[in-house]
Amino acid sequence: MRTHYCGELDRPQVGETIGVCGWINRRRDHGGVIFVDLRDHRGILQVVFDPDDAEMFARAETLRNEFVLRVEGKLRVRPEGTFNPEMATGEVELLAHELEILNPSETPPFQLDDEDVHEDNRLRYRYIDLRRPEMQRRLRLRARVSQYLRGWLEAHDFLDIETPMLTRATPEGARDYLVPSRTHPGEFFALPQSPQLFKQLLMMSGMDRYYQIVRCFRDEDLRADRQPEFTQLDIETSFLDEDGITGLMEDMMRGLFAEVLGADVDDPFPRMRYAEAMERYGSDKPDLRIPLELVSVSDLLADVEFKVFAGPAQDPAGRVAALRVPGGNALTRKEIDDYTDFVGRYGARGLAYVKCNDVAAGRDGLQSPILKFLPDAAIAGIVERTGAESGDLIFFGADKARIVNESLGALRVRLGEDRGLLEPGWRFLWVVDFPMFEFDERENRWTALHHPFTAPATDDPQALAADPGGMLSRAYDMVLNGTELGGGSVRIHSMEMQQRAFEILGIGAEEAEEKFGFLLNALRYGCPPHGGIAFGLDRLVMLMADARSIRDVMAFPKTQTASCLLTQAPAPVNERQLRELSIRLRKAQGDAPA
Ligand code: AMO
Ligand code: AMP
Repeated sequence: MRTHYCGELDRPQVGETIGVCGWINRRRDHGGVIFVDLRDHRGILQVVFDPDDAEMFARAETLRNEFVLRVEGKLRVRPEGTFNPEMATGEVELLAHELEILNPSETPPFQLDDEDVHEDNRLRYRYIDLRRPEMQRRLRLRARVSQYLRGWLEAHDFLDIETPMLTRATPEGARDYLVPSRTHPGEFFALPQSPQLFKQLLMMSGMDRYYQIVRCFRDEDLRADRQPEFTQLDIETSFLDEDGITGLMEDMMRGLFAEVLGADVDDPFPRMRYAEAMERYGSDKPDLRIPLELVSVSDLLADVEFKVFAGPAQDPAGRVAALRVPGGNALTRKEIDDYTDFVGRYGARGLAYVKCNDVAAGRDGLQSPILKFLPDAAIAGIVERTGAESGDLIFFGADKARIVNESLGALRVRLGEDRGLLEPGWRFLWVVDFPMFEFDERENRWTALHHPFTAPATDDPQALAADPGGMLSRAYDMVLNGTELGGGSVRIHSMEMQQRAFEILGIGAEEAEEKFGFLLNALRYGCPPHGGIAFGLDRLVMLMADARSIRDVMAFPKTQTASCLLTQAPAPVNERQLRELSIRLRKAQGDAPA
């Protein structure tokens, strides 16, 4: 059918007889000549129909956008002055001798090159959306990334092993997607939130190094970097400690970025303790491209009259932090109000600020509604500690530490974007030394910061039980440009420690036996020390493709409300199917009771 792809034709093929196949990107009529831009996955080629062949010309007049054609003709250089430098094939065109309409097309619901198509429309007609060169480029990049990672892992002795999709609940912190069992009425499978327990069992099975590019399912609130089903590059190794594992994973990422993007990244990746990340960036996934930092000023403000500051400054769970914005003195009232609304979304009750007109002039050189509440010493201390200079502005957050960190951490990122402060480059980072547990005030219990199988920084189960809140874990997260790319840990490999961890999490012996009995049993029969990590493949490709959302690097993603606009899933099923599954739906309101 074809001798060449559209996008690869250029001067060397001039004079040859060529056959190409593709879609009509655009048709234009120009004074008795018809031009068709024919598109395939490699690019676009201009095809010319001239009126000499009346029969073919008449057919060419019926052509519309997105018709599928085969065209044969002679490649020629375009006339002088008509070169198109924007097209890879912009110096040549195909003079058609033969036209075959392989399939017509109705008028497409949107123009492929229209930048403003609503995403719902793109998802509903995804097969048309995916024809766009940009989407083609992204999916090809994704395939190259997977291929590179597989190659690297195979070369390093990792074995690709599949794990079940119909399984038991895996505790990664989200809601499960459940699948009713027909053969066991009233019982359900859960789709895996991750293959966590299976990959640990594979280490106990002596597989040594495992990997899988695997779909995971989590019913949680969706965002630009979260989908209900997403893909992990899932990895587990035996007999390696955290340095061994993170070292391997760094090498893999450096290789990937060098090979696929030609990018040079840090060697080694910097490491930061969780506590330091929270202190300086208010986040456990700091974007190091933004040169702004939070500075704690609680100690300077504990005794001031201004209760908004003094309260949290005295509260052991509170925090008062300052964020210096270079050149921020120029922010308008309205901009400051906008930022105040913005931090409000994270629970902040306000956003105090000080404008620095002339820092050398002390109090008189500053401007702020709260200045009158602050003594000279506090003011001088704040200016010194933040390093504020004339022309800057300092924002303040005062509240529970969690709220201050979340709100000022988010404001820091927002300011970085708004004020064009992002330094270019790939800023990888390992975040380490996470706390083992976090206390959930509302539920009045400990929760695992990572997951319940993560090893604590002690081999002594007694020490863990003695101080759950103070215990660090052996977990690590890989962060890239402010996105959590992956997370993992060295695992618990002693049964006693695992039982202790369950107890602290409020999972009693009976429940542990019921839910994780198979794991506890396996721990009795010779479990090697092991650990691993899982990367969000969608997130990785999103960053590499410079896309805004992981939806843009998935062929058939779901909407923010977890539905598929293309297939209209989820969908009702018929009564018979439900009966077979022993499921009865509640009667709709108004129906007579059964
Ligand atoms: P975790 O829950 O941190 O760890 O997940 C690992 C990585 O998967 C990605 N990710 C997601 N991507 C898109 N949509 C989602 N809903 C979503 N949820 C998570 C993130 C995240 O860093 N079993 C452990 C790993 C381990 O300990 O080895 C786990 O699943 O990039
Ligand atoms: P008020 O005394 O409520 O008028 O607040 C005075 C200033 O402090 C305003 O700029 C508020 O935005 C700010 N403010 C109030 N509460 C907080 C808080 N919890 N953290 C930071 N700033 C606050």
